[in-house]
Amino acid sequence: MKIVILGAGGRLGAALMREYREKYDLAGFDHARLDLANLDDARAKLRGMNFDALINAAAFTNVDACETERDRAFLINAEAPGILAEICNEKDARLIHFSTDYVFDGEKRAPYTENDQANPISAYGESKLAGEKLVLAAGDRHLVVRVSWVFGPDRPSFVDAMIKRAQKEEKVDAISDKFSTPTYTHDVANMLPQFFERDVAGGILHFANAGKCSWREYAQWALDCCRDAGIPLKGTTVGALQLSEMTNWVARRPVYSVLSTAKYAEVTGRASRAWREAVADYITRFYSKK
Ligand SMILES: NC(=O)c1ccc[n+]([C@@H]2O[C@H](COP(=O)([O-])OP(=O)(O)OC[C@H]3O[C@@H](n4cnc5c(N)ncnc54)[C@H](OP(=O)(O)O)[C@@H]3O)[C@@H](O)[C@H]2O)c1
Repeated sequence: MKIVILGAGGRLGAALMREYREKYDLAGFDHARLDLANLDDARAKLRGMNFDALINAAAFTNVDACETERDRAFLINAEAPGILAEICNEKDARLIHFSTDYVFDGEKRAPYTENDQANPISAYGESKLAGEKLVLAAGDRHLVVRVSWVFGPDRPSFVDAMIKRAQKEEKVDAISDKFSTPTYTHDVANMLPQFFERDVAGGILHFANAGKCSWREYAQWALDCCRDAGIPLKGTTVGALQLSEMTNWVARRPVYSVLSTAKYAEVTGRASRAWREAVADYITRFYSKK
């Protein structure tokens, strides 16, 4: 199978490159090699290649910057994925496009399913939802995979920032009244081939590790895992911050954006593993060695 990955330098894209290198005929483009803001160039580069699946892990992911650079957000997160889907149609290839829990407004208090109405409350969420719609309108084989709180070894995320702070300082705080679920890039890499190796139906799919937590619980569990792995820390208890204290945020963020993985389990016959297990695995594999 020939696979092309966009966003190959990002947290998720780099993980997919690393994990698929041995298994597939793989090509990847990072931001420097293919700029989705330059649609003519992106078109020319991709039209000149052959592939069975195109995985788009590139996006304008800075949620606050999207608020002030709205046009750029819509160009990269919406218009470009629509063009990618059309290029895939020309080649009879499948587009796997990543999206986000931020398409929801966060008013629900039970996991969001693929049938729940999206209602973004930020320019980032709006642009990602617009991208989903363009991809799905282009063809029914294309797959939109919504993920949440992505973490992994290829680019630092929230959990790494918390561990780094706890290594330097005794005081570590995290928000205790915002809820979602971490998603380990390694687990995304494991689950995705079930969707591009077989000719399964396209549409929207939610994927995250199982369960739900606040940022404070997530950080506390990471520090607990570090302690168990013998990683020295100055801070061991995560204090609680409130969302209302985040006065420097530009964009609004959903308070609750847990993604239901029931459809994933139904389609594949497999359940995603619990977030605590995934975080523990990550820390054991990538921190114990540092
Ligand atoms: N991170 C999360 O917690 C999270 C949560 C929900 C959904 N998602 C979604 O998951 C996907 C992967 O995100 P991630 O966590 O891997 O984020 P990431 O580390 O920010 O990766 C995004 C990649 O896209 C690249 N990029 C930005 N603008 C581009 C452009 N104009 N042309 C080409 N490439 C461009 C970035 O390159 P530069 O850094 O060089 O600009 C970066 O390598 C995205 O669709 C995102 O919306 C992420």
